[in-house]
Amino acid sequence: MNTETPFETFLNQHDEEAWSATLVTLLRSIHEVDRNATQIWFAFYPLPLFRALEQSADRDKFTQQLLLQGDYELKDQIDSSHAFLYGHRFWPQVKQAVEQHAEAFNQTLRASLADQILAVARRLARELKKDESLLVGITAVAFMTMQQTGLPAFKEAPGTISIDSKHRKKAPEQILRARAKDDSQGLLGFLKTVDKQFTVTHDENDDKAKYKLNDGQDLAWGAANDRSRDWIALDPRRMEGPIPVECRSASCGTCWVGVLGGAEKLADVGAREGKKIKEFGYIDTAEPKPLIRLACQAQAHGAVSVVIPPWNGQFGKYLKALKEMKDTAVSLEPKQNEDASAETIQ
Ligand code: FES
Repeated sequence: MNTETPFETFLNQHDEEAWSATLVTLLRSIHEVDRNATQIWFAFYPLPLFRALEQSADRDKFTQQLLLQGDYELKDQIDSSHAFLYGHRFWPQVKQAVEQHAEAFNQTLRASLADQILAVARRLARELKKDESLLVGITAVAFMTMQQTGLPAFKEAPGTISIDSKHRKKAPEQILRARAKDDSQGLLGFLKTVDKQFTVTHDENDDKAKYKLNDGQDLAWGAANDRSRDWIALDPRRMEGPIPVECRSASCGTCWVGVLGGAEKLADVGAREGKKIKEFGYIDTAEPKPLIRLACQAQAHGAVSVVIPPWNGQFGKYLKALKEMKDTAVSLEPKQNEDASAETIQ
């Protein structure tokens, strides 16, 4: 029996393309502090991967084929996946507002997905007496989370905030200033050529989550020097410091990160990084300094703030095959296409 609510049906009518268009519309309404973070979150939890897993006939086999490691499912992290967004501090209220919106949803409502997200954010901003732009990104995240988890699981999550009160009190401007700041190289720093050092922040909600690297080193290289914690105990993928790494040669896809601040201080994406990151399925862009990078390839020339996704895998080939199937079999129903291509790859 189909127990989907009208709002879930509405959400499920939106595929990756529809969500991309929605995000483009929303971006100008999202506060600068969360503009990169929101785009990174949507790259970390791709709808096509979720759908592929849902439609897979043999899920275990399929996850092995895609080499998935870590926590890739939103249903296990409904309250925590977005802790790196500024808007996370409003999560209990956002979650409640989105649940109310879902329950009150009227099928005859003609408002687009973007307009509904903006309307929920606007209402809540008035209630909380906050700037609406601080709530748009996190509200979009809540909508997508509900699409991937379903309303019952979404409602069941306790709605907790995962950051401490000290970090919760920070103003957006404070965070933006910290991201823009570069390491001082001392009084005669301008004379330094080879021994410049820069800080990489890998969790803005933890003052100790930082390591240093030398000018021109890649992000993963610097991370290996950080032995301040038992990283493996926190995440078995973190064998050599806070950034999960395996091959260090753009072959495995383990080390992908999102760049919250300082993307412009990283070297341009090289030919190999660009080709492989697309093959892994993480991002498909010709942008020279995108928000998603392979840490083992991205060389830093300044302080940067990154966020580490809780999983890694290789699903770009699956997406490509899916697209080819769709392109060549346009007369079939989309769902049949997806099922067929998923089976072909399995
Ligand atoms: S460590 Fe394998 S791609 Fe970077």
